[in-house]
Amino acid sequence: MTLPERDAQLIVPTYRRLPLSIARARGCSVFDAEGREYLDFFGGLAVTIIGHCHPTVVDAIHAQAGSFAHVSNYFPQAPQLDLAELLRELSGYPRVFYCNSGTEATEAAIKLSRKWGNANGKHEFLAFRGGFHGRSTGALALMEGSAYREGYEPLLPGCAAVPFNDIASLEAAVSEHTAAVFIEMIQGEGGVLPASDDFIDALYRLRRTFGFLVVADEVQTGMGRTGTFLASQRWDERPDLVLLAKGLGGGLPLGAVLMSENMSQVFGVGGHGSTFGGNPVACAAGIATLRVILRDGLLARATEIGNRLCAGLESLHSRYPGVIVDVRGRGCMIGLELGIEAGGVRDACLASGLLVNVTHSTVIRLLPPLILRDEDIERALGILTRAIELAARETRP
Ligand SMILES: Cc1ncc(COP(=O)(O)O)c(C=O)c1O
Repeated sequence: MTLPERDAQLIVPTYRRLPLSIARARGCSVFDAEGREYLDFFGGLAVTIIGHCHPTVVDAIHAQAGSFAHVSNYFPQAPQLDLAELLRELSGYPRVFYCNSGTEATEAAIKLSRKWGNANGKHEFLAFRGGFHGRSTGALALMEGSAYREGYEPLLPGCAAVPFNDIASLEAAVSEHTAAVFIEMIQGEGGVLPASDDFIDALYRLRRTFGFLVVADEVQTGMGRTGTFLASQRWDERPDLVLLAKGLGGGLPLGAVLMSENMSQVFGVGGHGSTFGGNPVACAAGIATLRVILRDGLLARATEIGNRLCAGLESLHSRYPGVIVDVRGRGCMIGLELGIEAGGVRDACLASGLLVNVTHSTVIRLLPPLILRDEDIERALGILTRAIELAARETRP
């Protein structure tokens, strides 16, 4: 039986699988069973921030797994602390709560905001249309209007979502009753949509007026993907809580909520927890990943890669304005909005050896690793150009 045939029999069918069975991966590429290479701009859904099987990360995983793989959060553990020190250095937040995923980071932030809000007479949560914060019922409660909620309501009461980048709607929705506003600085699943500077300025201005918490969901934008360690570091003011996951564990499951000294006192001992949260092997992989990012200057490289890719895509946009509607994003998080369904372009790229993802049905999302070489950029642009040319020919009236 083939891999897809066994998969169809054994796995609960919640995922729409792509027609590719990956046999191994290395650096910027994945390989199928026949040894065919695909340049990986899918990025394991934004996880493989420094590519696959980086030797520094592999060595760190081996070393920690050979030392201890798990002891539980009843014990302080050096890998958790070494990673926390690196996160403090890179983000400026002195405290971290560890969990295992983006959804768990969202859940921890909802609980923390709820407890803080209860003590301060604030009981409402706000988020934005098109946002994605995970699949728990708590996260879904923040995703009003999303198809992911269908069949799961009723959800947590007191949550609403207003249009993204719409200052008037934001102003109308917040008040002294607002406990927290959850925001992605660039909506990832929502189609790689950056928040405008004016919108973020308005959000911080309203926080000064009403005293709510700003929770930045940097699960996708964090870890240097957009050219700064956090996408929220683009602005002078900073969120109260920052959610991290995806690239944080160097390919292993790890999530985190970064916070101030004050916020770190809200849960209290026993107020929240997780058996695996901050798993030492995942933390060791995360430390190695961050050290590579710092050692190799990959934050600056993310910006350079993004600029080169966007320049190529912009010129394609001007040649095929009917097929490409918009090119947007920052660093190694780029969205190519098409005037047509994006599945055909994705499949054409796959057939030519480039793995890309589709979000929001019309957006090709490019999440290349920060280790991408110039020749990989040229190769990817060549494949994308041919896929767009093909789409233009096929959609010509
Ligand atoms: C912005 C954002 N938040 C939260 C999540 C949920 O993360 P996870 O799938 O690790 O639970 C995702 C996943 O795509 C995400 O993009």
